[in-house]
Amino acid sequence: MKLSSMTASHAVGKGTEPDTVFSILKEANAAIAKYGRGKVINASIGAIYDEEEKFATLSGVEDYFRRLPAGELMNYAPISGLSEFLAAAIAETFQGFQPADTYARAVATPGGTGGVRHVIYNYLDQGQKVLIPDWAWGPYRTIAAEHLRGVETYEMFDREFHFQLTSLMEKSEKLLKEQDNLVVIFNTPAHNPTGYSVTFAEWQQLLAFFQRCAADESKKIILLLDMAYLDYAGTAEETRGFMKLFAGLPENILVTIAYSMSKSYLIYGLRSGALIGLSSSAEVADEFFRVNSFSNRGVWSNGTRGAQRLLADVVKDPLLGNKIRAERAVYRDLLRKRAALFLQEAAEVDLPLMPYQSGFFITVPVANARVVAEKLMKELLFTVPLQKGIRLAICAVPTVKIPGMATKIKEALR
Ligand SMILES: Cc1ncc(COP(=O)(O)O)c(C=O)c1O
Repeated sequence: MKLSSMTASHAVGKGTEPDTVFSILKEANAAIAKYGRGKVINASIGAIYDEEEKFATLSGVEDYFRRLPAGELMNYAPISGLSEFLAAAIAETFQGFQPADTYARAVATPGGTGGVRHVIYNYLDQGQKVLIPDWAWGPYRTIAAEHLRGVETYEMFDREFHFQLTSLMEKSEKLLKEQDNLVVIFNTPAHNPTGYSVTFAEWQQLLAFFQRCAADESKKIILLLDMAYLDYAGTAEETRGFMKLFAGLPENILVTIAYSMSKSYLIYGLRSGALIGLSSSAEVADEFFRVNSFSNRGVWSNGTRGAQRLLADVVKDPLLGNKIRAERAVYRDLLRKRAALFLQEAAEVDLPLMPYQSGFFITVPVANARVVAEKLMKELLFTVPLQKGIRLAICAVPTVKIPGMATKIKEALR
């Protein structure tokens, strides 16, 4: 007998495609070992590397962990998260911009990924589809597939790279004809991979639209704001001001926010974040807490206690909070500086770019992304090929290596 698979039918074929980012990272590391770090530009991984190309940390965070007693660092946390952490996650997410007359509840999750998982699983039925843009973080598809949910996409930008609200609205209406629950993911501010942030005016139009959809009370509309890059995109007002618009939404619109500590505290591997639910109804918010706490127990049990304690203390202790915020601002400025250099050269050599505003990534739209990425790899420039572009993680590239990158890409496009 020749067995082709031992798995249950839904798991057959899973994992045959390797994770793009991590396999390119492996190749970049092999090139570094062969040619030396100085010759290689590794623009693949979404983590900040400093100007010496070392993994960047916030020293306030690192010191905090090194001094934390073992019980706080290593013990279990409650299943839904330390209560002080949950309050801190809500405070950090809104920073004064929680809309009037809303109920906010939070559940600890392993990074933003955990929050995305809970929303896709708990707010869609098996076989239903989540709506995402055509330019999107790849794991949304993986998470949907893992949980036997589908994906529908809308075209995020028109030819002039303006956000296409009409495409999003058309696809929402289409889905609402097929299913009663509509889950729409927004990765904003500083969208991965384009660096775009949805504007205040666009949010006004979107919310007016979703309220029209919600007039049919048999429909349930769940917006998921994936805010992984929230703290690298501007002031509290610029990044969170639009949240005030979520006031007065009907009970059948639930706003959920995937808050992540990965980038904000540069602790990607400690796996900490929170899923926040925001509703005009206390019952919907309570249900959100209950359902997602249950899922915590059923999927990963508890979160990382030390990281939860850190956030609780950041909010409580102004000295600690100010130190960390000041250090983060240095990296925010560094990202801006790197991006500005790249954007300037791209303009000079007439290299088209997606509408970057802020964040860890800049993307070049190209039709044959794999071919271009492979050409660049031969030149020891490691980028991530997407369906319609190549993504550059400027977060990982020291400033001295940026001059010449845009020219190299322009040449690879010829
Ligand atoms: C768009 C987007 N969403 C969510 C995440 C989640 O990261 P984490 O689970 O580490 O918070 C990432 C990380 O790369 C991301 O780029």
